[in-house]
Amino acid sequence: MAFPHTNSAPQFNLNAPGLAHDPHWYRKAVFYEVLVQSFADANEDGAGDFSGLISRLDYLQWLGIDCLWLPPFFDSPQLDGGYDVRDFTAVMETYGTILDFKSLVTQAHERGMRIIIDLPINHTSDQHPWFKASREHPDGPFGDYYMWSDTTDLYQDARVIFVDTEESNWTFDPIRRQFFWHRFFGHQPDLNFANPAVRDAIFNVVRFWMEQGIDGFRADAIPYLFAEDGTNCENLPPTHQFLQDLRAMVDAEFPGRVIIAEANQMPHEVVDYFGTEENPECHMAFHFPIMPRLYYALRDQKAAPIVETMANTPSIPRGAQWGTFLRNHDELTLEMVTPSEREAMLGWYAPDSRMRANIGIRRRLAPLLDNSRAEIELINALLLALPGSPFLYYGDEIGMGDNIWLDDRDASRTPMQWNPDRNAGFSNADPGKLFLPVVQSLVYHYNHVNVEAQTAHTSSLLHWNKQILKVRKAHPAFGLGRYDNVETSHESVLAFLRVLPVGNAEGEAPEIILCVFNLSQHPSAATLNLPGLAGRGLRDVFGGDIFPGIDDGGHLTLTLGSYDFFWLRVRSQSSNALSTQTQALPVIDGSEFGY
Ligand code: BGC
Repeated sequence: MAFPHTNSAPQFNLNAPGLAHDPHWYRKAVFYEVLVQSFADANEDGAGDFSGLISRLDYLQWLGIDCLWLPPFFDSPQLDGGYDVRDFTAVMETYGTILDFKSLVTQAHERGMRIIIDLPINHTSDQHPWFKASREHPDGPFGDYYMWSDTTDLYQDARVIFVDTEESNWTFDPIRRQFFWHRFFGHQPDLNFANPAVRDAIFNVVRFWMEQGIDGFRADAIPYLFAEDGTNCENLPPTHQFLQDLRAMVDAEFPGRVIIAEANQMPHEVVDYFGTEENPECHMAFHFPIMPRLYYALRDQKAAPIVETMANTPSIPRGAQWGTFLRNHDELTLEMVTPSEREAMLGWYAPDSRMRANIGIRRRLAPLLDNSRAEIELINALLLALPGSPFLYYGDEIGMGDNIWLDDRDASRTPMQWNPDRNAGFSNADPGKLFLPVVQSLVYHYNHVNVEAQTAHTSSLLHWNKQILKVRKAHPAFGLGRYDNVETSHESVLAFLRVLPVGNAEGEAPEIILCVFNLSQHPSAATLNLPGLAGRGLRDVFGGDIFPGIDDGGHLTLTLGSYDFFWLRVRSQSSNALSTQTQALPVIDGSEFGY
């Protein structure tokens, strides 16, 4: 789909107002995951840093980003992309200082953007002083900070997550002469959450970063905090109790800051991470099950996998929100699909074994979709229309490629491509010094896939992304509205309504958006069943054109080109239809939206 052309050069607004007070900002926000190391290198040491990121904030504001998510930037041996923390309250020297981080927060806020960070609290690096003390002095104050055992007998029902590298969740420590428990790499011992001193220490880590002005954090690997023999050691009641206590502390001491659960679990298990209205846990949780099904549906050319996943998604408490995504810094995980779906997806998306990692695929969005502009647009439009706040991954807005010759997930963590100059404008360092090489493949070479080239022509993927984010922002139904599936006559055509039937406290008009997607590579014509909206008119939200309306029998026939989609605003011109709709669609009162 093409958007009307806009002015060719971005107009960066340096005087954007600061953050507006909005307790539900995260329910409407567009998030952007940015790896400090990978984005922009200001001090020319070959790795990105806070000053570099600050220098690119205007770009992110121009793009329409509301909140940045920074994966761990703490002091770390960097054996797991910084998720192996050596000191929770110090930043990597190569990224700058705490003062630089605070400046980043201030400068993002001045541009109306928020900052969330990533707290891997389940484990530390084996270089962390807590672990060093624990292994050297079993009877000392840190002796019980980790989970030690003389044997490997305990917790045998817990799966190994990093199957590519780990054979067991137990590793023998030659210094303490005991085994320690770890759910990820053998150099990442799990903290012992059963020890109240550990829980207090983690509360203090959270307090420390809240005091630096962050707007919230992603609670990394949260299902694994507590272990119990005879269970799979995931999602256990004491883990939920810990999260309730953490939320209560955050609400009391840092009201308005958010916690986002990273729980790669089935929908009925993920939903528990929101807690209840009486005992809330996280404000948001990533929707892991829908992500692979978007890719599955695209190759299968059928709407059913998406329709079914949405039908199986339980409702969430008032004030909660899903986080949705297409890609992130990890492999595209296939844990939430059936074995046969997984086989099919590996065949479609990772034909070369180098493209695979653990139970997933280590590729970026554009190469996954074979650089098909139509499919990239379609899947982005799906992401932005489905319930949840979208989390974009840096570089995907320009269709960056990956490098499967690099190890593990580094394949899609390469430097951001800013321009066709040395090191893609990421760094002035000697190219050999870069923490990872820039992508120079035939199709995705930084010579042509870069921000500068794409800002220079208005039909670029970058301009397309900017435009669709702007349109989404103008329609609160995408963030706050209910999702209603719409029956269609064609198996490749997915349709649903986003319904915000009453105005909210911001005085925004009630709205219903009809979203229709053709998942087929061929044109498709489909009749949609919209019994509650008989007689209503339709208007395209992109160009504003009036579309033929829904007929008096509540049917609408649409013809869509290959991988085409429509977002149509349902007009309220027919009072007859309005009263029919009130009967057919349950009216939601404002409290559903937390106002
Ligand atoms: C992070 C991974 C990391 C793992 C272990 C995950 O949840 O997203 O990048 O490797 O935690 O630290």
